[in-house]
Amino acid sequence: MNQATARAGANIALVKYWGKRDPQLNLPAAGSISITLAGLETRTTVTPDPTLGSDRFFLDGVEQSPGRVGAMLDLLREMAGETTPCRVDSCNNFPTGAGLASSASGFAALVTAGARAFELEISEDRRSGLARLGSGSAARSIFGGFVEMDAGELEDGSDAVAHPLLAADAWPLEVVVAVTESSSKAVGSRDGMNHTMQTSPYYPAWVETVAADLETARAAIVARDFEALAEVSEHSALKMHASMLAARPGLVYWNPATLACLHAVRALRSGGVGVFFTVDAGPQVKAVCLPGEGERVVDVLRGQPGVHDVMVTGLGAGAGAVA
Ligand code: DP6
Repeated sequence: MNQATARAGANIALVKYWGKRDPQLNLPAAGSISITLAGLETRTTVTPDPTLGSDRFFLDGVEQSPGRVGAMLDLLREMAGETTPCRVDSCNNFPTGAGLASSASGFAALVTAGARAFELEISEDRRSGLARLGSGSAARSIFGGFVEMDAGELEDGSDAVAHPLLAADAWPLEVVVAVTESSSKAVGSRDGMNHTMQTSPYYPAWVETVAADLETARAAIVARDFEALAEVSEHSALKMHASMLAARPGLVYWNPATLACLHAVRALRSGGVGVFFTVDAGPQVKAVCLPGEGERVVDVLRGQPGVHDVMVTGLGAGAGAVA
């Protein structure tokens, strides 16, 4: 056992994951496709410490209940035949819980650091499956660039893992994040997803149509066809939000600034700029841009009423140990 540190980038889904085929094992109802980001990351240090009575978890320096982090450590300890409690220190370089996918980079970094701390020789596939147990989207942050998550078919979920589609430098898109609200969101994605599954009449239609979107997105990525990727990504994001809006009571994650950004992105694209939007379970807007278009999009989104902050980043590597 050793102290170990790992980093992982946040990821943004282009074809969204929204719903589970098995909530217990956290298995997705359908696949998803994402891009891993370079500039928004979590760094996590796992320190096994026999003097601790139980696990302790600090997020950005503030102690939290170990919850899902402790459950992940239990799995790793079981694999290693260990019982030693750990201290976990995790830091995000972006606002936690504001719809910027901190649980994805968080669990990918935790699994990677924890496996190293307990000297477990496990494949990326296995790490992806473990990260999925923490958070479905985390399975994708194990890999860099363009990544596809498989829903899998097996009951034990061992085939529900992510795999890389295309390396980050093979199509170095840029991502502009417009922060329209800095506080934590009202309904987290896990609760929002469960609520949609249970009450939205549009949920079955959503799940049924994901496979076709995955095929379109996969083909667009392989062909570096930006227009096709833009069309299917905006469709997937809006369709996911339609399923949320149709839940009872409906989930409305957007604010006026979110909507202003969506219209601004569409106006830019109509004017010939290579950009499209996506929105997760929160009010922030992510604008995906062709290489070199990011700065122009930053200027426009910064000028939208209600936008607090704008960041631009590129695509990045998968989760890895930090020496
Ligand atoms: C809207 O991965 O946070 O960001 O598996 O319940 O932890 P759990 O959900 P989570 O959901 C992410 C939902 C999303 C879309 C996506 O990232 O694909």
